[in-house]
Amino acid sequence: MADDLSRAGASYQTPEVRAFVEAVHCRETEAMRYAVERTEAEGLPTIQVSAADGRLMQLLLAAVGARTVVEVGTLAGYSGLWLLAGAGPEGRLHTLEANPRHAAVARDVFRRAGVADRVTVHEGPALETLPRLAERGPFDAVFIDADKANYDRYVDWAFSVVRPGGLIACDNAYLFGYLAGRPADEAWDDAAVAAMQRAHRTLAARAVSVCIPTPDGLAVAVV
Ligand code: SAH
Ligand code: DHB
Ligand code: MG
Repeated sequence: MADDLSRAGASYQTPEVRAFVEAVHCRETEAMRYAVERTEAEGLPTIQVSAADGRLMQLLLAAVGARTVVEVGTLAGYSGLWLLAGAGPEGRLHTLEANPRHAAVARDVFRRAGVADRVTVHEGPALETLPRLAERGPFDAVFIDADKANYDRYVDWAFSVVRPGGLIACDNAYLFGYLAGRPADEAWDDAAVAAMQRAHRTLAARAVSVCIPTPDGLAVAVV
């Protein structure tokens, strides 16, 4: 039975425990390491998911038998490589990126990883590129990791294109701690807080959902 500390949400995760389990369970490929190196070398923001988050997404995609995956928020393709790992050798990834520099680096990362034929980088604001992408659905999974103030709209879109039994997942579901009970500020304003809360409520109302307590929360739903 869980003890009082863990029931109250306290965690036994220490830096040493984290390093051990990541080293054992979350080994990156050479291409993933290259994606991070290029992110740093190009001066892009180093805000990619952690190896543990990436591995978790790989496992979840494998668990639902995902082959076709959509990602909102490409950056340099690091999480995309984990999504492809979960989608298997026949897997296909559509990944959406508003920043042309990020998209260019990601295309190069995917080319170098030998997966360019299985990835399409859709350049432009996701709210403009998602409607057209719907024609190519249904999809097995959608991973949301872009601008937080639009998460609710991305979740709505995901429900319109994900097949029954498919997966919807949202990174940063705790909104850096601003999700509930902390005053919003310029960085995470009321619009972002409201959108993230609405995204959670939609996932819970329409699917079997949970928010996995990764450092910044990974909200996951099976449709
Ligand atoms: N999933 C990536 C990290 C994404 S960071 C990884 O883990 O490797 C968030 C990305 O979303 C940034 O590259 C940013 O440029 C992009 N982004 C922000 N607003 C966007 C929008 N409206 N449409 C598409 N992409 C957007
Ligand atoms: C930021 C965005 C992310 O998706 C993330 O995982 C961490 C940080 C950001 O915009 O700062
Ligand atoms: Mg994120």
